[in-house]
Amino acid sequence: MRVVIVEDAEQVAEWASARIAELVTRQPKVVLGLATGGTPVQTYRKLVERSRAGLDVSQVTTFNLDEYFRVAATEPHSYRSFMNEHLFIPAGIPLAQTHVLDGMTTDVGGECRSFEAKIQRAGGIDFQLLGIGRDGHIGFNEPGSSLSSRTRWMLIAEETREDNAVYFGGIDRVPCSALTMGVATILESRQILLLAVGAKKADAVAAMIEGPVTNQVTATALQHHSNTIVVMDQDAAKKLTRRRYYQESEVRRVEFGLGSY
Ligand code: F6R
Repeated sequence: MRVVIVEDAEQVAEWASARIAELVTRQPKVVLGLATGGTPVQTYRKLVERSRAGLDVSQVTTFNLDEYFRVAATEPHSYRSFMNEHLFIPAGIPLAQTHVLDGMTTDVGGECRSFEAKIQRAGGIDFQLLGIGRDGHIGFNEPGSSLSSRTRWMLIAEETREDNAVYFGGIDRVPCSALTMGVATILESRQILLLAVGAKKADAVAAMIEGPVTNQVTATALQHHSNTIVVMDQDAAKKLTRRRYYQESEVRRVEFGLGSY
């Protein structure tokens, strides 16, 4: 796991958008796995700016990590609406190339299997963007999820619903469950970039990077992925015991001409 500590949320977004832009330029038909939530919003804003400045995203294919269960795509709080608003429409990614699980499905198993089959048909996910929950979840893989899990229905943990209450105007309005890519589905991505911002993520970040692999913190499964980068701000990094080592490693990487991205 490569650990990159930058100054603040703005620099996290700059790092992530530069990396994605470089990838799309090199591989215009790249298959991107995408996340929602507060963390990637600035990254998406910067990608939109880059597309307005000439970055061509018209050939990318996308798969989103998750969608609220029993929330229609057309509802303002659906993750489909979030992605359309923050990235797909303003950046000019054709909606037919974007895939978000159908939260209104009446056949959960069928919907989840078909989503996985679409990922396979697209040739797998080249690059997966992730955030991390306070309880260490990735996607909606809450503590206790199997680290071999595939796309499925999950009950959302109380702590996660509390965190998302701000978007809904109260915890009672936050849906109690979601469809989510599984941990194993995420681990099949060729490259993973996890972003973490703010002091409230510091415990989860420390557990993910320096703790033992456990289904109680599903992000620890990323320790078994050979091409994962975690980019965070100073606040999210503050519980890391080997912080100086990670920072020196990034300085040396540049000194040896290995590039910062
Ligand atoms: C979102 C997702 C979640 C979030 C995580 C952090 O699609 O899968 O795992 O990445 O809950 O959310 P924020 O960024 O709002 O702190």
